[in-house]
This record gives sequence, C-alpha cells and structure tokens, in this order.
Amino acid sequence: MEALNSCRIPSHIILTCITAFVLIIYVVCFSNHQDGQLSSILSSFNAPFLTKNINSPRLSPTPFHENTSLERIDDQDGSINTIHTRIINTTLVSLAPLQSSSFNPSPKLHKVNNSLERIEYGLARARAAIREAVRSKNYVSQKKETFVPRGPVYKNPHAFHQSHIEMVKRFKVWTYKEGEHPLVHLGPVNNIYGIEGQFIDEIESLKCPFKARNPEEAHAFFLPFSVANIIQFIYKPIMSPADYNRDRLFHIVMDYIGVVAHKYPYWNRSNGADHFMLSCHDWAPEVSDAKPQLLNNFIRVLCNANTTEGFRPKTDVSLPEINLPFGKLGQPSFSEAPNNRTILAFFAGGAHGYIRHVMLDQWKDKDSEIQVNERLPKGLNYTQLMGQSKFCLCPSGYEVASPRIVEAIYAGCVPVIISYNYSLPFSDVLNWSEFSIQIPVSKIAEIKKILKEVPNDEYLRLQNNVIKVQRHFALNRPTKPFDVIHMVLHSIWLRRLNFKIRT
Ligand SMILES: *[C@@H]1O[C@H](CO)[C@@H](O)[C@H](O)[C@H]1NC(C)=O
Ligand SMILES: *[C@@H]1O[C@H](CO)[C@@H](O)[C@H](O)[C@H]1NC(C)=O
Ligand SMILES: *[C@@H]1O[C@H](CO)[C@@H](O)[C@H](O)[C@H]1NC(C)=O
Ligand SMILES: *[C@@H]1O[C@H](CO)[C@@H](O)[C@H](O)[C@H]1NC(C)=O
Ligand SMILES: *[C@@H]1O[C@H](CO)[C@@H](O)[C@H](O)[C@H]1NC(C)=O
Ligand SMILES: *[C@@H]1O[C@H](CO)[C@@H](O)[C@H](O)[C@H]1NC(C)=O
Ligand SMILES: *[C@@H]1O[C@H](CO)[C@@H](O)[C@H](O)[C@H]1NC(C)=O
Ligand SMILES: *[C@@H]1O[C@H](CO)[C@@H](O)[C@H](O)[C@H]1NC(C)=O
Ligand SMILES: *[C@@H]1O[C@H](CO)[C@@H](O)[C@H](O)[C@H]1NC(C)=O
Repeated sequence: MEALNSCRIPSHIILTCITAFVLIIYVVCFSNHQDGQLSSILSSFNAPFLTKNINSPRLSPTPFHENTSLERIDDQDGSINTIHTRIINTTLVSLAPLQSSSFNPSPKLHKVNNSLERIEYGLARARAAIREAVRSKNYVSQKKETFVPRGPVYKNPHAFHQSHIEMVKRFKVWTYKEGEHPLVHLGPVNNIYGIEGQFIDEIESLKCPFKARNPEEAHAFFLPFSVANIIQFIYKPIMSPADYNRDRLFHIVMDYIGVVAHKYPYWNRSNGADHFMLSCHDWAPEVSDAKPQLLNNFIRVLCNANTTEGFRPKTDVSLPEINLPFGKLGQPSFSEAPNNRTILAFFAGGAHGYIRHVMLDQWKDKDSEIQVNERLPKGLNYTQLMGQSKFCLCPSGYEVASPRIVEAIYAGCVPVIISYNYSLPFSDVLNWSEFSIQIPVSKIAEIKKILKEVPNDEYLRLQNNVIKVQRHFALNRPTKPFDVIHMVLHSIWLRRLNFKIRT
C-alpha cells in the first residue's frame, strides 16, 4: 500500500503509518460497523466516538433548544455598516434589522472580566475602527504600514485596509491538537491541493503570528484535518464504485467534531459558528452532508465554492486553488509587457467536465488568435505562453475552481473566467470585474468577439489591475501581510467579525 511505501525511518512516522495502515484495514473491513473502534485509532481522541453522541440533544439533527444570539454585520458590498441580528437554533432564522443604538461598540473596560467578554470587546473595537475608517476614508495603525490598498480593485479599500490592520493586531486562531498524522495536522503541500497542507503547516507553525497561545484567547478555532489526505489514505484501494461511499469521510470528520465539542466548551458555545475547516479537495463541501443541521454555522474554507452545491458565500470562504510545483511556493513566473503580448487568448488542458468539453469542441486547434490546446504541442512552454497572452481562458473543470486563475494572475494575463455559480475568492474585498472578464458558458462561441471588443485602454487597465492583485495570491512561508494566507485568514476574520457570541 502506498501509505506504507511512504514510510521513512523516524519511529513516530512508522507509528503513524502503522496507525494509518490499521485504519485503512479497519475501514476497508469494518466500515459498516459504527462501534467506536475508528475513534480509538486516532489515539489522542479520548472522548467517546461521535456516533454514540448523536442522540444527545445538541448533536442531534433536530433543532437545538438553546439559541445563541448573533449580531450580524452585512458586508455584501464591503461597506460593513448594516447590523442584523440572527438567532441561531441551528435552523437559521431570518435576518431582522436591528437598531444601531442597540449595538455598543465601546463597552466599558471594567466590565470585561472573562475571556469571551474580552474577545467580544476586541471585536467590537475592531468593528468601530472599521466603521470609522469607512467614514473618514483614512486608517489608524500603531505600526508603519508598508502597503496601503487603494484603487478600484477593492470594493471598499478603507474598510479592507482597517480590517486587515485590526486582524493583524488582534486575530488569534486556536488549532485543536487532537488527531494524528496523516489525516490530521498534515496535508498535501504540492500540486493542486497544495494550499491545504501549506495552510495547516503555516497556522500550526510557532512563527505564525495568528497562533493563539491558548484556546481562551482565540477568536476562531481550526479543525486541522485534511480532506485530501483522508481521501488519499482512507479511500484506498478502490475496488468498486461502492468504495467511493462518503461514509468513511463523514465518520472521521464527525468523530473529530464530536471529540472537540465534548472535550471543550467552544463548539457548543457558538454552535460551531467560530469553527472552521479548510480544504481544496473536490469532495470537501460534502462534509456537511454528514450532519447538515449540526454543521449549519460551521465555516468551510473551500476551493470547490460552487453555490449550486451548497457553498454559502456569507458563511463559507472561497479558497483559491494554487498548483504548487514540488518544493516551490508558486509557478515559475514569466510576464511580457502588456503591449508585447502576441497571443489574444490561451488555454491548454484536458477535457475535464462539461464546460471544457464545450470550449474544446468550439475552439480546439481552430483559431490562431484563440489558442486552445488539449495537449500542449512539444517544445512549447506553458508558463511562457501564459506570459505572452493578453487573456488566459480559465474554464471550470470537474469542479468550479481552477488553478489557471492564479497562474494567469501570476503571469500578468487577464483571467477569463468561464463558469457558473462559482463564488470567487476574496470577493468580499476584491472587485473581480476590475481585473478579470467573466464569460457565461452560453457565450463560449463568442469568446473571440467578446475579447476583440475590449478596447485597448480597458485592456491595459485590467492588466494593470491584475499586477496589483498579484500580492493577494502570492504564497509566502512564513506568511506576509496581504498575501494569500493573510487573505484567507482575513476572510475568516470577516466572518467572525460578523457575529457576536452572547457572553
Ligand atoms: C456539548 O454538547 C454535547 C451535546 O449536548 C455534549 O455531549 C457535550 O458534553 C457538550 N460539551 C461540553 C464541553 O459540555
Ligand atoms: C428554531 O427556529 C425556528 C425558526 O424560527 C422555529 O420555528 C423553531 O421552533 C425553533 N426551534 C427551537 C427548538 O427553538
Ligand atoms: C430562544 O430561546 C428562548 C429560551 O430558551 C425561547 O423562549 C425562544 O423562543 C427561542 N427563540 C427562538 C427564535 O427559537
Ligand atoms: C464578572 O464575573 C462575575 C462572576 O462570573 C459575574 O457575576 C459578573 O456578572 C461579571 N460582570 C460582568 C459585568 O459581566
Ligand atoms: C466593480 O467593478 C465594476 C466594473 O468596473 C463596477 O461596475 C462595479 O460597480 C464595481 N462594484 C463594486 C462593488 O465596487
Ligand atoms: C517583447 O518580446 C520580445 C520577444 O519575447 C522580447 O525579446 C522583447 O524584449 C520584449 N519587449 C519588451 C518591451 O518587453
Ligand atoms: C518555461 O518557462 C519558464 C519561464 O521562462 C521557465 O522558468 C521554465 O523553466 C520553462 N520550462 C521548461 C520546461 O522549459
Ligand atoms: C456545480 O454543482 C452542480 C450541482 O452539483 C454541478 O452540476 C456542476 O457541474 C458544478 N459545477 C462545476 C463547474 O463543477
Ligand atoms: C446557479 O444557481 C441558481 C440558484 O442560485 C440556480 O437556479 C441555477 O440553476 C444554477 N445554475 C447552474 C447551471 O447550476
């Protein structure tokens, strides 16, 4: 089995692999039995197996009896100013407007005497600072700001800038320590799911400035399982279509949540609303199907941000897919000056999924200006072709996200997004219309006409804006302000800022 072949000498890794092996054997042989054995394999999980908890009132699929009052700030257009209240009793209740007078951004300091109050007090200060920045069109920072986001690529540059300042100043994430390699605390760091492992590794790193020292100071709680690794290690071997059954994935995830919700007060305190998972794997959104009611408030950070498949733009976070070459944090970059780009539009890639079929049928090897290849002819260099193209076609494949969008941005090539119901990354903050073109699937035949009609000055503006947003898609280890990991954390921070846990 590949899990064993990948074993190296250090004893803890051998133990991990034996654990994985036992787990695989267990799952392969006994996956129909829900008798608690699975959880004892993740050995630091010492609370009962979740399926035993399922009948308890809070973890049951029927609505909770307790309800938590949440104050919501509507950030639809980045303005962050309308406050709503929502009551969470697992079935989401309508968002009723709240008088702004009932929101007090400056509670008196002496009242703050427990950690949740301290956290909510800090969040209230951050909201007030963001509102003030929107009002004054300026920012307040104790540090020297090395980058000031300005210009139309931002929906509201002042709100975003101050929110980023507040995040860097305050935001703390607690990563649960439960669970073991290779399913938890470890993810792929290369290829198209690479962002999953890179994020886990970064947030768990001692150097990470967002790492909470203890859970009491945390604003958000990370469940560091890797869906990509779960699928890699648990779904092997695949002998029949039945082996794709999602039960194995559901068990591991629900087991994890059950353990932390049982052992610590934090999940129950917010009904999961300040907890998040992160995955780039296509199957990741399906995690919620395990217990939709229980996971109703849970933040899912997903590459597969397909709203038709239940991605919720206000609760979930869209994660960019970045294809990471082995040992690297990004593609090699090559970028011609905008007026020196000789190819109008470029695409090379397989016929994965319906949209690509339509596009390849229409354009493959047919037009010298719309250069669409299923396989790149020998001797041509993909990176260089992107860097020599004005527009890069980024059709969805088997799922909505495509690593081409980030590749295009790195190459200074204006992305042409061909998809539907794809919730684009960081769209709370970034105005994608300012640095990309979106073409509906129904207009694939008109790609050439649409792109030729873009006036040159408009093209130059779009291209210049692509260069401006590059920093937000750059992966750095350790993470740097405004880079992709900061942007992902900022998306989570914004969602946490959007509600208040009753103290
Ligand atoms: C959270 O709720 C579940 C279900 O009611 C319960 O089993 C668990 O003990 C609670 N957790 C804590 C820490 O009280
Ligand atoms: C949960 O909220 C819904 C919608 O308001 C309501 O109909 C239901 O009775 C509530 N359930 C409980 C247990 O409070
Ligand atoms: C919230 O809980 C209180 C007390 O448990 C209950 O009276 C009220 O109806 C609940 N509200 C909703 C919307 O479920
Ligand atoms: C501070 O904590 C005490 C003890 O938990 C509690 O009785 C009191 O109400 C708290 N004060 C405020 C202002 O919340
Ligand atoms: C985004 O950019 C488009 C194109 O310039 C513009 O029409 C739209 O108003 C902008 N949206 C926001 C929220 O700024
Ligand atoms: C334009 O492209 C050619 C061929 O790639 C290159 O040799 C030249 O330096 C480029 N000119 C500019 C201004 O970038
Ligand atoms: C393709 O071009 C890039 C950028 O010039 C370069 O770094 C890379 O090594 C080239 N790849 C191959 C396979 O030649
Ligand atoms: C989005 O989800 C729908 C429903 O499952 C599916 O039909 C569609 O193909 C998905 N989109 C892409 C691009 O995968
Ligand atoms: C996109 O989502 C809307 C609902 O928001 C739905 O009506 C439509 O069918 C979806 N489109 C596709 C192609 O799945």
